[in-house]
Amino acid sequence: MLVDTKTRYGTVTRFLHWLMTVGFMWMLFTATVHFIDRDSALNEAVWRFHPLVGFTMLMLGVIRIIWLLSQRARRPDNNFNVRLGHFSLYVLMVLTPTLAFMRAYGSGRGFSYFGLQIFAPRDDKVEFWVDLANQWHSVFGWLLFLFIIGHVLMAFYHRSKGPEHNVFPRIIGRSSR
Ligand code: HEM
Ligand code: HEM
Repeated sequence: MLVDTKTRYGTVTRFLHWLMTVGFMWMLFTATVHFIDRDSALNEAVWRFHPLVGFTMLMLGVIRIIWLLSQRARRPDNNFNVRLGHFSLYVLMVLTPTLAFMRAYGSGRGFSYFGLQIFAPRDDKVEFWVDLANQWHSVFGWLLFLFIIGHVLMAFYHRSKGPEHNVFPRIIGRSSR
């Protein structure tokens, strides 16, 4: 089933969830390599894919929010804490790349996505976006990874409490309920 129901997330939600999980693993890997030693050969090889995959995450995140809004009434019910956790993930997953994207605009250096020019290089700089992202992009990025770890731990914790608490069948495999 493409759309969500009260017992399970549908194919579109599942596809976006797992595709973006792979994307965020890549973002965590590249951010960690960059954090450890930005002069290393490994960083040299992988860092250019941080903005590219990050921008892809931004576009997928926007699509995911539009999809979420269209499915809100059909989705499986969750308590307030779970909803707050998911909401925080949504905010961070869009805010983090948006800040970096606006910094790319503000820097005047231009930004290309797989050869497609999104911003042309310009002479003027918009300090506001550069300063804002310099201050917050990496903070929100690390916070996002922390929240993801918390989300995964909570999912396994619920599963450990017994089959009636297991929410995995909602997002992967067959739903028995
Ligand atoms: C969901 C997407 C993203 C996540 C989770 C993320 C996460 C991070 C993290 C955790 C760091 C800190 C690495 C360090 O301490 O060395 C970082 C740095 C950086 N990111 Fe991203 N990023 C994302 C998207 C983007 C995008 C779209 C761009 C470019 C348009 C970008 C450009 C940069 C740059 C230039 C740095 C180094 C400067 C800084 O620390 O702010 N990122 N990112
Ligand atoms: C191995 C990694 C992951 C596991 C095992 C996992 C597990 C789950 C499970 C079991 C659910 C169903 C929970 C329910 O609604 O009752 C779920 C939903 C959800 N997960 Fe994950 N997750 C992972 C990665 C991620 C990542 C990387 C993000 C986002 C940054 C994320 C964000 C969400 C959100 C927002 C939902 C609610 C459905 C939606 O709007 O897509 N998850 N996840």
